[in-house]
Amino acid sequence: MTSKQANLEVKRIVGIAAAGEVEDGMVVGLGTGSTANYAIIRIGERIREEEIAVVGVPTSYQSAIRARAAGIRVADLADYPELDLTIDGADQVDAAFNVIKGGGAAHTREKCVADASTRILIVVDGTKVTDRLHMPVPVEVVPYAATGVARHIGRLGGEAVLREGIKKDGPVITDNGNFILDCAFGTIEDPAGLETSLNTIPGALTSGLFTEYAEKMTVMVGEDGGYRILT
Ligand code: 5RP
Repeated sequence: MTSKQANLEVKRIVGIAAAGEVEDGMVVGLGTGSTANYAIIRIGERIREEEIAVVGVPTSYQSAIRARAAGIRVADLADYPELDLTIDGADQVDAAFNVIKGGGAAHTREKCVADASTRILIVVDGTKVTDRLHMPVPVEVVPYAATGVARHIGRLGGEAVLREGIKKDGPVITDNGNFILDCAFGTIEDPAGLETSLNTIPGALTSGLFTEYAEKMTVMVGEDGGYRILT
């Protein structure tokens, strides 16, 4: 097995385990990405096998398409402004349960759904757990303001790079019609302070820093053949 296959297997195991937390009658936020997708598939199987009633609130067009394909009844956040549980992946998690998301450019809707949820299950493989957050923070920006936001990021000590598609022939466009700036700050000393600063930049819609949800968050870390709960 290649290391990529092994990593996917770890994601599959932890995604399936998270789907086991879904109960009959729940409204569940459905995250975006390869790990969350394994949870979506398993929730669909459980709906059929156990005849449980579950409503899914997707965080992206990608997760909506996958949820429908899995046989999950899909609804809007406007229909269910309070959710029982959200299952989502992440790009980096620190020891204080601060999280960086947005590798899939879906973090604006992911943050809305996380905010509306009573519980959040973050599903990651072990490579994403770190003492201190240090990867670039994705910031969704209104295209009109992208240059100005990048200058603000510079004044905050960061370096902003416009995210482009795989072919490097144009910017990634989010489900909300916006651009993504990946903003490198090195090791982030004060994640909550940085999130607050990013929130005040005109034209910056949402940052991928999630620092306010530690109390309602459980982090499930996939490992060889199983998973552990981050404590
Ligand atoms: C999308 C995200 C994803 O949850 C994050 O990028 C992790 O993805 P994967 O499970 O594929 O590694 O934040 O915006």
